[in-house]
Amino acid sequence: MFELKPPNFAGKAEAYAALESELRALLHGERDFIANCANTAALLWHSLPDLNWAGFYRHVDGQLVLGPFQGKPACVRIQLGKGVCGMAAATRQTVVVPDVHQFPGHIACDAASKSEIVVPLVKNGRLLGVLDLDSPKPNRFDTADQAGLEKIAAMLLATSE
Ligand code: SME
Repeated sequence: MFELKPPNFAGKAEAYAALESELRALLHGERDFIANCANTAALLWHSLPDLNWAGFYRHVDGQLVLGPFQGKPACVRIQLGKGVCGMAAATRQTVVVPDVHQFPGHIACDAASKSEIVVPLVKNGRLLGVLDLDSPKPNRFDTADQAGLEKIAAMLLATSE
């Protein structure tokens, strides 16, 4: 029987599965959170299409502070509740923004950004930071990206201290 699958979803799920095994190998044997964030940012940057920024903000003294990333230099400090990153951090929920120009309070670090996804990093009830991806394409991130990136964030948290 022929099954019609949504064209992109199956492709993305497979791509994220492949990415997970690459990340598992990359994180193996290393517990340092910053080093693991740096390698995760580099892996995502080189593996996922249509990105103009991929990286982390760390939760330090009640603020988000720029962490390892790939892309153009970015704003260093973001208050909890501000911008897409601050919203994901404050609510501890992934935030998907199809059009950053429609998101009240969006912080534009790179004028090329059109859409964005931010995944909070929470370990044992503690907010460690956020994973942030930006795209120059509108509506770049969907539920398959959210599922894949939340799994990647969970792997990073499980292997890091
Ligand atoms: N756009 C983010 C700021 C961080 S940069 O995209 C790297 C925000 O609104 O929180």
